[in-house]
Amino acid sequence: MTFTRRSFLTGAALTGGALFQELKIPELVDARRQGQSIAMTAQVGRTAFFPERDSPTLGYNGSYLGPTLRVYRGDDVEIAVTNALGEATTVHWHGLLIPGELDGGPHQTIRPRKTWRPVLPIRQPAATLWYHSHVHGRTAEQVYAGLAGLLIVTDRDEATLGLPAEYGVDDLPLILQDRQFEDGMLVLPQGMMATMHGRRGDTLMVNGTVNPVARVPRRLVRLRLVNGSNARAFDLAFADHRSFHWIASEGGLLERPVALRSLSLAPGERAEVLVDFHDGQPAVLETGPDGNAPMMMRMMGGGNRLRGERQAIIRFEPQGTGTRSAQLPDKLVTHERQSMSNAVRRRRIAMTMGMRGMRGGAGMGTFGINGRPFDMERIDAEIRRGDTEVWQVSAEMMAHPLHIHGVHFEVLSRNGSPPGIRDQGLRDTIMVENSVELLVRFSHTAATAPYMYHCHILEHEDNGMMGQFIVR
Ligand code: C2O
Ligand code: CU
Ligand code: CU
Repeated sequence: MTFTRRSFLTGAALTGGALFQELKIPELVDARRQGQSIAMTAQVGRTAFFPERDSPTLGYNGSYLGPTLRVYRGDDVEIAVTNALGEATTVHWHGLLIPGELDGGPHQTIRPRKTWRPVLPIRQPAATLWYHSHVHGRTAEQVYAGLAGLLIVTDRDEATLGLPAEYGVDDLPLILQDRQFEDGMLVLPQGMMATMHGRRGDTLMVNGTVNPVARVPRRLVRLRLVNGSNARAFDLAFADHRSFHWIASEGGLLERPVALRSLSLAPGERAEVLVDFHDGQPAVLETGPDGNAPMMMRMMGGGNRLRGERQAIIRFEPQGTGTRSAQLPDKLVTHERQSMSNAVRRRRIAMTMGMRGMRGGAGMGTFGINGRPFDMERIDAEIRRGDTEVWQVSAEMMAHPLHIHGVHFEVLSRNGSPPGIRDQGLRDTIMVENSVELLVRFSHTAATAPYMYHCHILEHEDNGMMGQFIVR
């Protein structure tokens, strides 16, 4: 068995001999307890991902990531975001259905030393959302450095279900990210690989914790999983193959819990699951190998980490005495079904990364939607509020996670076949391997500032795999 210097240093040596570090839980900021007014500052800091190795990072109200914001359906919440960085930023509320000018996309730039104060009308069902930088051309670098956090919407329907809801105890936020370290210091992968492939790293973190262990009560525990990686998709399962229940997709609760043994999560996607720790046995959540890369990169040998074994993400250690096994509700919420016959048009969205620059030697990939790179000054679609459309989405060269701002959609088909078990529920982000057909309902307005739709591999987005549309 051989150890490379890096794999040795990122292992036990750097965690001070103790293999595990206690899972960090982001501070909970509850809008009602703050009088519906929350202050956040995007700031620079230093973070010790490994003992005695301080890396320069970015965070909101802290050095890496940000607080978990909890907001309530029906409320209007002011969030004052101050930019204390040396560069422009934005804060996008990913998954929140709010008007375009409040969305925090590339058009809502916050200059250094300025404060942006959107008042967000919360009018959607309970869900696990997140927020992150979306500044034009620099989203990938700012998110990689730490500008992201969790946003929880809650409502009465959810509260009556009796789901685990004690934040940080039996209701755990888990922001999953991969990052690259050299000698314990966070490094930013650069170059063609980083652009084509999206920035990946050999080290997995949860809430900024490397090798995390979470102590959990011996009962049903709710995990709010967010893939906050720039580019890496996860293929999650427990090492002991235990089953768990999937209860919520990106848009909120499913109609009923779905028993699963594994669950994939692309960048930008979220899932809420319930895991029963009643038996008191420790459990390790793992991911399969990172396999999403353009064919060309695989041939160039850039894919060492594309093969390989399963990697541990987080270890759970049940504590205390087992109470009665908690009740899993058999019904969650009812969804009003959209009908395809309401669709007023069909749109083709191809996430393209052609190689047109190659012959002239001008560039590598031409990232775009339908072959056209993003242009801040160009509106790609104008849509009537209240309309339903079928989006026929395809992915070129590799799988790309499509995210659409300001909407919820349903999956109508995947690769020409009926949707799979994981395709149910309301979504705002979806992994597209070949093609999917989506039923998209445009219920919110983006008249003075457009909504974005893009690949959530952030390097692809920054390089042009994005479009924008108006809804009025
Ligand atoms: Cu999570 Cu347009 O982004
Ligand atoms: Cu979004
Ligand atoms: Cu992409």
